[in-house]
Amino acid sequence: MNGNLKIAIQKKGRLTEKSVELLKLCGFDFENYSERLFVSARNYPIDILFLRDDDIPEYVKDKVADIGIVGENVVLEKQTQTVTLEKLGFGRCSLLLAHPNDKELNSLSEINGKTIATTYPRILTNFLKKNDLNANIIELSGSVEIAPSLGVADLICDIVSTGNTLMMNKLKKSFKVFDSEAVIISSKDKLDDEKKNKILKDLLRRIRSVLSARSSKYLMMNIPKDSLKKITEIIPSLKSPTVLHLADENMLAVHAVIPSDKFWSIIEDLKKAGASGIILLPIENMIA
Ligand code: PRP
Ligand code: ZN
Repeated sequence: MNGNLKIAIQKKGRLTEKSVELLKLCGFDFENYSERLFVSARNYPIDILFLRDDDIPEYVKDKVADIGIVGENVVLEKQTQTVTLEKLGFGRCSLLLAHPNDKELNSLSEINGKTIATTYPRILTNFLKKNDLNANIIELSGSVEIAPSLGVADLICDIVSTGNTLMMNKLKKSFKVFDSEAVIISSKDKLDDEKKNKILKDLLRRIRSVLSARSSKYLMMNIPKDSLKKITEIIPSLKSPTVLHLADENMLAVHAVIPSDKFWSIIEDLKKAGASGIILLPIENMIA
């Protein structure tokens, strides 16, 4: 026990790269050796444990790891006693029912009596119960997508993110069970170690600042002096924009933080109002 806060992340899979990127954006400097079980950050008291995502809730519950980054799909399936501290906005995917391209399935009630292969038996059981359906569930530990072509199942219930796996196996979506994204989980009990609590608080503050920076951009442009009022009306700025004087007395420079998704909807209005030299920059961190 070195007193470091232990963070479990997926060893190899959909969430690995984004989890590592998030921790690096928080300022933690560590080697990304997913062949190793764990690495310590060089500049901060944290250890990163590389684990199978399916095992993360259990390890967090048992306090082998203090917190974990994992998909809601895994958390829900494992039903381990953990709490979600923050949704992370990446690793988005859906748990879907899918069936072979050459079959038709038009209503949910047609699932009655069918056989469904899945690695998510608990979530699927609840879904069937909620919809008053009766189907046979075959629990597999992986490669669910080949079950229909092997004649083992009529449908599958699996995670879909890009849709490539479905396409390659000649399957198509029939119904959605639920949407998932990556989250941070911790054990239900509070950390009993004061030092670790402090590290966790600081880490969550850093993560929140990275997340809010991600959804914002820094906008810079030059405008004619007399269109300032119009421009400020167009910019959905969090606070009032920064206005700077330029060498040309008839012009001003305006800087503002805007929601990333707003840019393309306001760009034409800005140009019409006389804005030029428009630059949009990413923000790495934003401290509330
Ligand atoms: C899911 C699912 C598919 C793949 C679908 O696995 O089982 O294999 O992702 O992704 P696609 O729509 O982009 O092709 P997951 O990443 O959850 O991996 P795991 O089962 O190994 O944990
Ligand atoms: Zn997994």
